[in-house]
Amino acid sequence: MILPVIAYGDPVLRKTGDKINADYPGLEQLIEDMFETMYSSHGIGLAAPQIGRAIRLFIVDSSQIDAEENNTIGIKQVFINAEILERYGPKEEVEEGCLSIPFVRENVLRPSKVHIRYYDRHFVEHEEVFDEMNARVIQHEYDHTEGIMFTDLVKPLRKRLIKKKLIQISKGAVNPSYKMKYPLASKVR
Ligand code: NI
Repeated sequence: MILPVIAYGDPVLRKTGDKINADYPGLEQLIEDMFETMYSSHGIGLAAPQIGRAIRLFIVDSSQIDAEENNTIGIKQVFINAEILERYGPKEEVEEGCLSIPFVRENVLRPSKVHIRYYDRHFVEHEEVFDEMNARVIQHEYDHTEGIMFTDLVKPLRKRLIKKKLIQISKGAVNPSYKMKYPLASKVR
């Protein structure tokens, strides 16, 4: 089932996500719904707060991006209760977007490598290092589970310039190709 994506401004996007366990009700279906929602909105990552659940769960499918161009082999992975152990390597500035913030794209400076511990959808524990595009998408989605949006990380001048746009988005004054729930518009569309 495709779920509406929660738009910028909703408090659920600002919560620190709770850890979950394997008994979390409807977890398999939730993961399936998140993949369906992400693909239907052409995203390469989606975090649970973006569909209204403040829990430590996000998905990534960077295999959709041209691997050669981005110097990385893409991953399709579910991350549960992820813990970033270290962000390191040279910082790189790359343009990012977010399904909760349609039509806003801004440069974000992030370290190129991430060392992360997480559980997969079968609750098997992994500890891995990701780099380049994978590290970027993982950091972006992980940040969602900490209540951080990529627009928090842009330079102060750019932040001021996009402030109005962010308010417009909260009010639903945008028209993306996918269904969204706008905190200041009280309806899904
Ligand atoms: Ni995002």
